[in-house]
Amino acid sequence: MHTGSSTAVVGLQWGDEGKGKIVDLLAAEHDVIVRYNGGANAGHTVVIDGERYALHLLPSGILSSERTCVIGNGVVVDPRQLLSEIESIEARGITIQPGRLLVSDRAHVVMPYHKEHDAALETVLAGAADRGDENLSIGTTKRGIGPTYADKIHRSLAIRMGDLLDEAVLRRRLDIVCAIRQRELEALGVEVTPLDPAALAAEYHTLGARLRDFITDTVYALHDALGENKRLLFEGANACLLDIDHGTFPYVTSSNCSTLGIPPGTGLPGSVIDRTVGIVKAYGTRVGEGPFPTEDLGEDGARIRERGHEYGTTTGRPRRCGWLDLVAVRYSAMVCGCTSLAVMLLDVLSGFDELKFCTAYRMPDGTVTDRFLPDARRLAQAEPIWETVPGWADEIDSAVSADDLPHQALAYLDRIAAFVGCPIEIASVGPDRKQTIRMAQSAGSRV
Ligand code: GDP
Ligand code: IMO
Ligand code: MG
Repeated sequence: MHTGSSTAVVGLQWGDEGKGKIVDLLAAEHDVIVRYNGGANAGHTVVIDGERYALHLLPSGILSSERTCVIGNGVVVDPRQLLSEIESIEARGITIQPGRLLVSDRAHVVMPYHKEHDAALETVLAGAADRGDENLSIGTTKRGIGPTYADKIHRSLAIRMGDLLDEAVLRRRLDIVCAIRQRELEALGVEVTPLDPAALAAEYHTLGARLRDFITDTVYALHDALGENKRLLFEGANACLLDIDHGTFPYVTSSNCSTLGIPPGTGLPGSVIDRTVGIVKAYGTRVGEGPFPTEDLGEDGARIRERGHEYGTTTGRPRRCGWLDLVAVRYSAMVCGCTSLAVMLLDVLSGFDELKFCTAYRMPDGTVTDRFLPDARRLAQAEPIWETVPGWADEIDSAVSADDLPHQALAYLDRIAAFVGCPIEIASVGPDRKQTIRMAQSAGSRV
């Protein structure tokens, strides 16, 4: 069994930590970049020499020539979105010929009725909350993620990428699926134009045919790559606290977006990973509903939002902002098995007199815990216990080494490393590839 030389990149908060930037950076040291979970709910931004790319389904490694990119079986693929992303990247001069991109024939397909179901259920639940019931709307991205994974688990009504290649198979399946979906959508109050299985089969077969050269058995392809001593880089989408099993359920996404999703989402054993870089935003953000103990609804949160341009890559929604929850990050680093951290958007914190970390929670009965509470109801009751540290005045976005950082910024990094028990490998001080500091085994990396 091959072990070692592969890296996982995973978000340790509620998403948008800057995973895309780090995957793009580390792509230079790897041969194959692999998405294993999620779908177009992800929005990964990469900035190269001032040029901004927003990727949803394509692995961020697509921007580095000569890298192979894999969309693994654990991903849910909207074929229309994938084709439009391929076209828009190619229009910018990056060629994606077959062989450079492999899409699993077992990845499940996001169909139009999945997106309608996602949006309709959110509307029904938000309406119930407005009438005073518990708020069970999640604030999804409406990309059809939940309903597609539900069909996967449900099995009989699911459609996989390989199915798109045979119109007769697709048609037979859709005859049954459309009849059932029609009734379900109507029950949710959606006025649907009758679903037409023949038209849908023809349309999705055509989309599949356009992707035919990319669709393959990625499990064998990945094992073959390991056999050739290729180095793999796993690109986590969403983030550990949104993991269906280990996040703040039910306000999570529908896949295992911690590193624990890598084996089922790729067909590789976990032993191939010997380095896991946890991506941590220097403060906290969350999009959608759900508890966020360190959220700041006042001036500080607003200031972070404006300085950090905290508006969603996928939906444009303003992100909820607040301070860094070290209890949460330590939990995620533990679940994901992080071997190092990359601390992102440190530049956004310049100019605050004081910065705050959450280092424990106080519960309504007065007890204090420094353990994370992945149950949303319990986490919603947690009051953060703060540790306050001095901020720094100067902008740091042109810093190129740890020596260029103010001592307060280094102390901030040191505190994160010490609390989480994980060294800091990278500090990021701006969106561009160039605005990245590789931390030596000195300041900021002591545990
Ligand atoms: P991802 O989903 O984890 O890949 O993160 P997103 O791309 O959704 O959000 C991160 C945002 O922060 C993007 O707009 C990045 O270009 C930007 N970004 C990444 N690193 C830094 C940084 O160190 N400083 C600043 N100011 N922006 C950054
Ligand atoms: P990246 O990869 C931030 C959130 C949604 C919603 C919940 C469920 O860019 O970090 P879904 O559409 O998945 O059913 O929504 O999860 N969410 C994200 N938030 N970044 C993401 O991805 C997210 N992917 C899902 O906002 O609260
Ligand atoms: Mg994002």
